[in-house]
Amino acid sequence: MKAAIIHEFGGPEVFKYEDAPDPQPQPNHAIIKVLACGINRYDLFLRMGGVQQQTSLPHVMGADVVGKIIQIDDNNSPHKVGDRVIVAPGFPIDPADWNHEPENLAPSYTVTGTTLWGGYAQSMSVPTRFLLADKTNLPAEQCATLPLVLVTAVHAVKTLGEVKPNHHVLIQAGASGSGSMCIQMAKTLGAEVATTVGDDSKFQVAKNCGADLIINHRKENFRERVLEWTEGKGVNVVIDNVGGGIFKDNLTSMRRGGIMVNFGLVGGVKDEINFAQMIFNQYQFRASMMGSMNELREGLALVEAGKIKPVLDRTFPLSEAAQAHQHIEDRKVIGNVVLLPWN
Ligand SMILES: NC(=O)c1ccc[n+]([C@@H]2O[C@H](COP(=O)([O-])OP(=O)(O)OC[C@H]3O[C@@H](n4cnc5c(N)ncnc54)[C@H](OP(=O)(O)O)[C@@H]3O)[C@@H](O)[C@H]2O)c1
Repeated sequence: MKAAIIHEFGGPEVFKYEDAPDPQPQPNHAIIKVLACGINRYDLFLRMGGVQQQTSLPHVMGADVVGKIIQIDDNNSPHKVGDRVIVAPGFPIDPADWNHEPENLAPSYTVTGTTLWGGYAQSMSVPTRFLLADKTNLPAEQCATLPLVLVTAVHAVKTLGEVKPNHHVLIQAGASGSGSMCIQMAKTLGAEVATTVGDDSKFQVAKNCGADLIINHRKENFRERVLEWTEGKGVNVVIDNVGGGIFKDNLTSMRRGGIMVNFGLVGGVKDEINFAQMIFNQYQFRASMMGSMNELREGLALVEAGKIKPVLDRTFPLSEAAQAHQHIEDRKVIGNVVLLPWN
């Protein structure tokens, strides 16, 4: 098969489009023909060596896979050869943890394509229990934008953020893959949503996702705008995918007892914490990592019902994985970009 392989960690140029060994049959696994594989910001960290200890080289990454089963070695699976499936974007890689619930708290849980080979290839092997029937009726490239950001949105916004009808919610980076999903998730829960973008060209996508207030963070101070929007009270919940550099402004955009959920670190991995500010305002800080299979099913049900829509920026052939990564690195991405291994 053809794959976009990395033999070293580094810039986008480390991708080599070349022949790789076909995945081999294993008990309780299926071999999937990859129809489309979405790219996430996580893949850029992985490529740069940010999660090195879990990844040996050469490696094929890729978490957001939609494909067709071409072989299955599991008589008890509900899936069969020819079925269109969505691969869970993360699962426990040690079979001893396969029954752990929620899956994302299992000791060996990792993002798909971190340790085992992922979807930047024409085929991949997946434990059958981490496959879901694709009932979205979406073209493969649309569907492949979804799994990772969708499960993240359900876990971060609904489960950890506890967003309720009429809550005021601030979601950072509203035109990003994760931000665009979190806005839609918060709207399905009946919230009022403010979001940030770094360029006026990203306003429309945030609006299409349902954002009520869109702030260009390069032109305006988002905290001031959010306080004005909430008549000085502050929001109930902040969903943060940026991390370092904006922690204080995020916190102080909230009212007393506000919940801040963070799952991203594009702005950096460190910031300062003021315990007095946390305690006197009774702020809660919650860290979010992916989500469970049930949360993924819940997200997909919202997609099937037309309540959440994929945000596809553009596709690239798999041979152009480097260009696709560069597009994301340049902050040009709106929603998600997707690789097509058979074009
Ligand atoms: N823990 C989890 O479960 C989980 C799940 C999904 C994503 N994540 C993380 O969430 C973050 C966002 O992921 P994503 O896939 O949504 O990313 P993405 O689609 O590449 O979007 C990231 C956006 O963040 C904005 N941004 C703000 N400050 C930035 C900075 N200092 N450097 C670069 N970009 C900055 C940019 O938009 P503007 O130019 O409009 O400001 C950029 O386009 C990443 O850290 C990712 O690893 C974590």
